[in-house]
Amino acid sequence: MWPLHTRPFVPRDTTDLLRFVQGCTFDDFLLTPQLGIVPSRDPAVIDLTSQFTSQIALRRPIVSANMDTITRAAMAVALAEEGGIGVIDRGFRAGDISPQIVEVTAVKRTQHGIIADPHTIDAGQRISDALQLMDRTGVGTLVVTAGDKRLAGLLTRRDVRFVSGDALVADRMTPRDLLVVHAGPISSADAERLMAERKIKKVPLVNADGTVLGLITAKDLIKHRTHPFATRDDQGRLRVAAAVGATGDYLERAVELQRAGADAIVIDIAHGHSLVMERAIEQLRKRVGSVPLVAGNIATAEGATFLLERGVDAIKVGIGPGGGCTTRLATNFGVPQVEALVRCQQAISDRVPLIADGGVKRDGAFAQALLFGSDSVMLGSAFAGTEETPGEIVLKPVVMPESQKVARVPFKVFRGMASVGAVRDRLDLEDVDPRELETLGSEGLEVSVPARGSVRTIIHDMLKHLCSAISYGGADTLQQFRKRFWSEPQRYLIRLSHASRMESFER
Ligand code: XMP
Repeated sequence: MWPLHTRPFVPRDTTDLLRFVQGCTFDDFLLTPQLGIVPSRDPAVIDLTSQFTSQIALRRPIVSANMDTITRAAMAVALAEEGGIGVIDRGFRAGDISPQIVEVTAVKRTQHGIIADPHTIDAGQRISDALQLMDRTGVGTLVVTAGDKRLAGLLTRRDVRFVSGDALVADRMTPRDLLVVHAGPISSADAERLMAERKIKKVPLVNADGTVLGLITAKDLIKHRTHPFATRDDQGRLRVAAAVGATGDYLERAVELQRAGADAIVIDIAHGHSLVMERAIEQLRKRVGSVPLVAGNIATAEGATFLLERGVDAIKVGIGPGGGCTTRLATNFGVPQVEALVRCQQAISDRVPLIADGGVKRDGAFAQALLFGSDSVMLGSAFAGTEETPGEIVLKPVVMPESQKVARVPFKVFRGMASVGAVRDRLDLEDVDPRELETLGSEGLEVSVPARGSVRTIIHDMLKHLCSAISYGGADTLQQFRKRFWSEPQRYLIRLSHASRMESFER
C-alpha cells in the first residue's frame, strides 16, 4: 500500500484536482517526466508566449513585483527588454504623484521604433537653452524647428561642444538641406536600409507640409535587434505597468500614469476581494477606461470570479506567500499558493489571465506556478539585491566562516510593502499623529540581502530552466505544456512525503 499522501493521483473531474492540491504549495509536488519532444531546450527556439493582460502578450512570462525595493525604471527596462514587464510600485507619498510618473516616463523613453514626440527646440533659441534641455531630458539630439513646427535641422551634443551659450541654435545645427529626411512613416527595415546606404545614424521624418512627424535613430534600431523578445508597444517603446491603490490619490495617480504612457494599471491592495476594490474598479474604468486594469490580490475562486465579473483584464493571485510577507503570521489568513492558483484557474478557465504573485523561490516553482494555472509570474525576493533594484549598497562587516576573518560585504535592503519602514516612508509625516507612527501594524519584513549582479542573469537562468521543464513535460511550447497538464494532471503530479521533499529540495 502507498501511504495516503503519496498515492498516485487519479482525478475523476477537476474538483478532484482541487482536492489533491488542497493545503499544498510548490514544494509539496514533483512532476513525472514524460517523453521529451523538443529537439533543443534553447529559450530562443521554444515559444514561451503568454498573456500578461487580455490585451498584452509577453514573450517571457515574468513580471517584477511592484515593491519599492524591486521595481523602478532600471528594473522595468531590464524586464521589458528581456520579454517580461515591470510594475512600478506605488510606494511614494500620498498625493506626490510625480516621482512615479518620472519612472514610467524614463521607461517609455528608453527605446523607440519611431520617436513620435522627439524633443524639439526652436532655431531662434540659444545654445544655453539647448544644453539645458539636453541635460534635463538626457537626450543628445534635438530636432530643430522653425516657428511653425517645420523641420529646420538637427542639433547634437557634438554641435554645441566648446560653443558659447549665447550662440544661436540656427548657427550650430545641421540644417535640413544637409540631412537625409524621409517624408511619411517608414518601416524599421527600410530605415535600416536607408541608414546603411547613406551612412547616417538619424533620419527625421516629416509630414507633407514639412512639419516634424518623428525621428528614427540607429541606436533604437540596434536595440530592437539586440532584444528580439522585448515587450514593446505599437510605437516600439518598451512597455511598463504601474501600481495604484484603491483609496486616496488613486484616481489622479491613474490619470497621470495613463498620460505618461503606462501600459497597464495594477490596482494593488492586500485584500482584493473587497468592496473597496469594487468601487476602485468602477471609478478607474470611468477615468482611465482604455488602459488595461489588473486587480489583486485574491486567492479564492470567489475572489477571482468577483474580479472577472467586474471586467478586469488580469487578476493577481496570492495572499501571504510572498518572501517579505508576514500576513499569514499576523492574521492567520491566506491560501497555500498552489491551491490558490488551482482554485482561481478552475473558476476563471482562461477567460482572463492570472498572475501568480509570491512564493517563487526556486526556478522549479516558477514552472509550477505557470502549470498550476497562472499565465505569468510576479517575482519580488528572487530579484532582491540585483543591480537593477533601487536603493543604496551598504557595506556590512561579516565573519567569513572559513577564515573567521571579518570582511565587508555589500548588501541591499529588501522589504515588504506593508513593513513598518515602507509604510512609514509612504506616509506624509507632517500630517501624521506621532502616536499613529508608533502603532503601525506591520504585515511585512525588512531584511538585508547580499548585493549581486544583474537581474538579466537570473532571468536567463529561469528561462533555461523553464525550457528544460517543458522538455521534461513532453511539450514543445509553454501553452502546450499547460494544456497537457490540465488535460491529464494525473500523468504529472506526485505529492511528496517528508523524506522525498528533503531528497528533492534540501541541499
Ligand atoms: P516574493 O515571494 O516574490 O513575493 O518576494 C512578492 C510579493 O509579495 C507581496 N508582498 C507583501 N505581502 N505584506 C504582504 O502580505 C507585505 O509587506 C508585502 N510586500 C510584498 C506582493 O504581492 C509581492 O508582489
